[in-house]
Amino acid sequence: MQCSWKAVVLLALVSVAIQYTAIRTFTTKHFHICPVPNPLNCGLGQDVESFDRMCDEYPYFNYNSSKRTHILILATTRSGSSFFGQLFNQHSDVFYLYEPLFHVQNTLIPHVPPSRYNTERRVTLGASRDLLRSLYNCDLYFLESYIKPQPANHTTDKIFRRGASKALCSVPVCDAFSPSEGNIEEGDCIRKCGPLNLTLATESCRERHYVAIKTVRIPEVNDLKALIEDPRLNLKVIQLVRDPRGILSSRIETFWETYRLWRIWKATGRKPYNLDLTLLTTVCDDFLNSVSTGLSKPAWLRGRYMLLRYEDLARNTLEKTKEVYEFLGLTMEKNVVDWINNNTRGNNDASAKHKYSTLRDSAANAESWRLKLSYDIVDYTQTVCQHFLDELGYKAVNSPEELKNMSVSLVEDKTFIPFL
Ligand SMILES: *[C@@H]1O[C@H](CO)[C@@H](O)[C@H](O)[C@H]1NC(C)=O
Ligand SMILES: *[C@@H]1O[C@H](CO)[C@@H](O)[C@H](O)[C@H]1NC(C)=O
Ligand SMILES: *[C@@H]1O[C@H](CO)[C@@H](O)[C@H](O)[C@H]1NC(C)=O
Ligand SMILES: *[C@@H]1O[C@H](CO)[C@@H](O)[C@H](O)[C@H]1NC(C)=O
Ligand SMILES: *[C@@H]1O[C@H](CO)[C@@H](O)[C@H](O)[C@H]1NC(C)=O
Repeated sequence: MQCSWKAVVLLALVSVAIQYTAIRTFTTKHFHICPVPNPLNCGLGQDVESFDRMCDEYPYFNYNSSKRTHILILATTRSGSSFFGQLFNQHSDVFYLYEPLFHVQNTLIPHVPPSRYNTERRVTLGASRDLLRSLYNCDLYFLESYIKPQPANHTTDKIFRRGASKALCSVPVCDAFSPSEGNIEEGDCIRKCGPLNLTLATESCRERHYVAIKTVRIPEVNDLKALIEDPRLNLKVIQLVRDPRGILSSRIETFWETYRLWRIWKATGRKPYNLDLTLLTTVCDDFLNSVSTGLSKPAWLRGRYMLLRYEDLARNTLEKTKEVYEFLGLTMEKNVVDWINNNTRGNNDASAKHKYSTLRDSAANAESWRLKLSYDIVDYTQTVCQHFLDELGYKAVNSPEELKNMSVSLVEDKTFIPFL
């Protein structure tokens, strides 16, 4: 059993290596390093002519990329990252991409079910970092290596959740909506915008000063060290964490097949002997590794890491958004405030029932898992995730009564000041 499992991972590694080598060879010009001693000089305009010549082959160093801020939202599934991502997506100076690393996973390890993905995702990390580096430099053509069929004329209708990115649904990429449009529905974008012209998407990216990418496919902040230390980038990582008991409850409801055994446990009160524990331990281990690194303040993370609890965001969306924006140097915009008002509590206008309306009674909803999970699942989760719960100020409960008594919050007040 043990042996065949290792063989599978080894095989996956080999096959990823082969495919990835093929992709790198195919797109080899993207991998040239800008040939000046300090790549930051590229495009800074001191000796424009020679730099232009040198950088000609490297279009993404031809503009003021060093003046740009690159944002990575580091999250996990069902931790509130789609909602959090919207707070960037709605900003007019942000080029936001929703989960572009999906394409890496889908190309390199296509048949790995989500349950096994936890084990094998690390094999795609190198490829993921290369893609992120290219996207932050507005090189969207790089994505084409991971899209099947390979896009012709830099045009494709296969971008994962394209409609979740406002920049990919508005001018200059798509002129189906007026620039003053508040919220563009994902389905409307797909229907009205036609195939995505990646050349226009690149232009749209270059017009903005912030590139934000949301992902649940990077395990921990340590996996981003190479990008954070890359002098060509100005990367800031916002790590969004959530109470693992809430994540578990939400996943059990959402991922029907993968969490089948957990659902059986929940329904019968008996823990199946073959329950896949890694689904839970991976969340807590990744969180704990990452947060511990962040809070230990290594020099390479100075000014580059901010920790945010989903529960705090849900409880006080506007205030937390302001803190995050301040850390990133983003100015608050009316459109963002409107979006928050439309999609969180405080707006009971029926016409405002958007996709994220589950957060409308946010403070209550962030802890609603307490009414859904049984005490023994909670108790078990607390044992497995104890260190993480302690570190983040999530209180453990000691009885079913305590679990269900909603008048006592399990989220302790705790302030995480960014390390500047
Ligand atoms: C970079 O920005 C400065 C000031 O914003 C501008 O004068 C210069 O032309 C820009 N350089 C390039 C290569 O776009
Ligand atoms: C790509 O563009 C060329 C020139 O405009 C055209 O002849 C060709 O049919 C296009 N290919 C596809 C697949 O659309
Ligand atoms: C907020 O809701 C109003 C009314 O439904 C709508 O007109 C507006 O476009 C929305 N704004 C945003 C940013 O979602
Ligand atoms: C994509 O946009 C570019 C820039 O406007 C244009 O030159 C190109 O023809 C467009 N591609 C297609 C396939 O329409
Ligand atoms: C809930 O907790 C509060 C505060 O500890 C306590 O006063 C109250 O009696 C509890 N309610 C129930 C139903 O146990």
